[in-house]
Amino acid sequence: MKILFYDAKQYDIESFNKQLKDYPEITVDYIETDINERTASLADGYDAICAFVSSDLGKNTIKTLGEKGVSLILMRCAGYNNVDLATADDLGITVLRVPGYSPEAVAEHAMTLAMCVNRRIHKEYIKVRENNFSLVGLKGLNFYGKTAGIIGTGKIGAAMARICHGFGMKVIAYDKYPNKNLDFIEYKELEEVLRESDLISLHCPLTVENYHMINAKTISLMKDNVIFVNTSRGELVDTEDLIAGIRSKKFHGVGLDVYEEEGHNVFENREEDILESSITARLLSFPNVIITSHQAFFTEEALEAISRTTLDNAMDFKKGSINQMNQVK
Ligand code: NAI
Repeated sequence: MKILFYDAKQYDIESFNKQLKDYPEITVDYIETDINERTASLADGYDAICAFVSSDLGKNTIKTLGEKGVSLILMRCAGYNNVDLATADDLGITVLRVPGYSPEAVAEHAMTLAMCVNRRIHKEYIKVRENNFSLVGLKGLNFYGKTAGIIGTGKIGAAMARICHGFGMKVIAYDKYPNKNLDFIEYKELEEVLRESDLISLHCPLTVENYHMINAKTISLMKDNVIFVNTSRGELVDTEDLIAGIRSKKFHGVGLDVYEEEGHNVFENREEDILESSITARLLSFPNVIITSHQAFFTEEALEAISRTTLDNAMDFKKGSINQMNQVK
């Protein structure tokens, strides 16, 4: 099994190489470039390619992979909204992913964003370095006794719900498929969750039906002074409407690990570039917004689980015994 690993960063290489000794039948070649319709042809002669959330696995890319004889796409992530599954299916290319590597890593980051933006840690860090010890602009809110609204209570949403519960918050949630193991959660309709929550955190996948689920209308339902966190997918939120909502002082704080048009930015140092979009600059012009760059998953434990499951997926495919939970169609 020969795998071409696109967009390889040092931490990916370290983490995969650590595991590879247990997989003697797999060879991995790492390349820095990400996959897209032009770079897909580099996979000529490989059985599989390994890609990530920010990779371009659209129709033309997958067609090229098919022409080059690639029969397996290994997503080293949970999300797969960037993969043209219909084309992969037409060409008989299997797509496997890592559905849950460390839900706690993402949930802990969601709470980190909520807490940092609440207590303005991003402002305070810089102020204190400049010997400015004033408290002006730093006032936060207690989480204890408040209501957390979790949208999507799968693996990550459940972990976030448990964290909020541990903070002494009332936890309400919206999900089409309530998680019966979470007996401390009160499930409600989406509108009710938006109306009643002091902290709203998105944990549902991006689908055709929930594109821009957070928009001018749904923002208008939210409580004034709400804290809003998105660690799921940028396109769940209409950024222009979010900016309008921030300008109208709807939010105490907004914490984003993902945002629309992040594709070119994800995991790149773009200090020298003239950016094609001003989304981050516009959002960061507000004192009550904090942005991180799709790092919620990024813990040692998560990287280890990602590399092991990805290599297991490759071996299972080779043996013809795919773990159905990891296959996306
Ligand atoms: P999961 O599949 O375990 O849970 C998703 C839940 O969302 C399910 O319970 C499902 O019923 C629910 N859901 C689906 N559509 C919904 C809707 N329209 N409204 C409300 N709920 C809905 O997924 P998991 O592992 O919890 O991941 C959630 C998302 O987190 C992923 O789809 C991905 O977009 C994002 N993610 C972000 C990462 C980061 O580093 N920022 C890392 C990993 C995942």
